[in-house]
Amino acid sequence: MAWKTLDDMDFAGKRALVRVDINVPVEDGRVTDTSRIERIIPTVDDIQAKGGRVILMAHFGRPKGKVVPEMSLEHIAPTVADVLGLPVTWVNGDYADAVAAMDDDEVLLLENLRFNPGEEQNDEGFAKRLASLGDIYVNDAFSAAHRAHASTEAIAHLLPSCAGRLMAEELDALERALGNPERPVVAVVGGAKVSTKLDLLGNLVTKVDALVIGGGMANTFLAAQGIDVGKSLCEHDLADTARDIAQKAAAAGCEILLPRDVVVAREFKAGADSEVVKAEDCPADAMILDAGPDSVAHIAQVFERSKTLIWNGPLGAFEIAPFDAATNAAAKTAADLTKAGKLVSVAGGGDTVAALNQAGVADDFTYISGAGGAFLEWMEGKTLPGVAALG
Ligand code: 3PG
Repeated sequence: MAWKTLDDMDFAGKRALVRVDINVPVEDGRVTDTSRIERIIPTVDDIQAKGGRVILMAHFGRPKGKVVPEMSLEHIAPTVADVLGLPVTWVNGDYADAVAAMDDDEVLLLENLRFNPGEEQNDEGFAKRLASLGDIYVNDAFSAAHRAHASTEAIAHLLPSCAGRLMAEELDALERALGNPERPVVAVVGGAKVSTKLDLLGNLVTKVDALVIGGGMANTFLAAQGIDVGKSLCEHDLADTARDIAQKAAAAGCEILLPRDVVVAREFKAGADSEVVKAEDCPADAMILDAGPDSVAHIAQVFERSKTLIWNGPLGAFEIAPFDAATNAAAKTAADLTKAGKLVSVAGGGDTVAALNQAGVADDFTYISGAGGAFLEWMEGKTLPGVAALG
């Protein structure tokens, strides 16, 4: 799909309404991870360098159309100013006056869009109100593009529109990983439950050459083959679905890799006694908490013969050592191959980024998406309304 970028627009003397995703984690009133704010810097700087003024629009949390004071963007504005290195004025109420009075290098940050019920209803009236504040609409919020909201969808039809730098970067990376990748392509899909990733698995098996299934999801696939997974997390009622996905994969020529050996323990706690057994030998009173070293070696072989990797979800219970070993080892192999120029590696989704950061390799991947839900929906093959509206 073709969309315009900042390079296609003339910002001189114009007001740019820029939809960003600064839905950042906050603990005790402090922003604990500023990555999402850092990633909008190129767009803000570029618009200002081209002579435009920047008005930021964003949501925070899920206030469901009501004013929830703790979710006000007033609390985030000072951090946005620090990270951007620019004067940022949080505005509420009469936006038109604030916009009329803004300085060239000043950035305005509108109040949490989701305080207005019109935002999530994709209401045209609310979109028109927002559109009246600017001359050009820029969407730099890939991670909110799976939402058809007034600030991501309706507004794009009301003003000349384009993708910001971060949006364009995300779309390019995803296109390179799954849209038009260099083959062979391997996907890693992990996480607790098959039920949350059915569409994703169904889509991937038709697009990739090999699919590594990890985490609790792998137990469901093992059980569907008649393997006793003891007390492991497992969705036994999805056995038929798992078999259908395996069949679809076979028909499409996609190899599915399930763990050959597993790390089992009787307790799920840090440093719990654990042992490595063959996948079919999980004791009845134990849980599978990670993939074993043979499985990791097999995954490494597949990575080595692949040109592109797309990764979503950890291979084991990575939050607790030693059950992070398979995720760390596979991530390190992917990072080394990427550094050697042999692999294009793209990863996304909340837990995945946390796991790759923990493995210390996130910087060595080709691209780490900042998106959670949007990344998943894109991997499911869905059209993201916020992206479609830019077309
Ligand atoms: C995210 O954090 O993934 C985005 O900001 C979207 O948030 P939402 O799931 O509340 O729409």
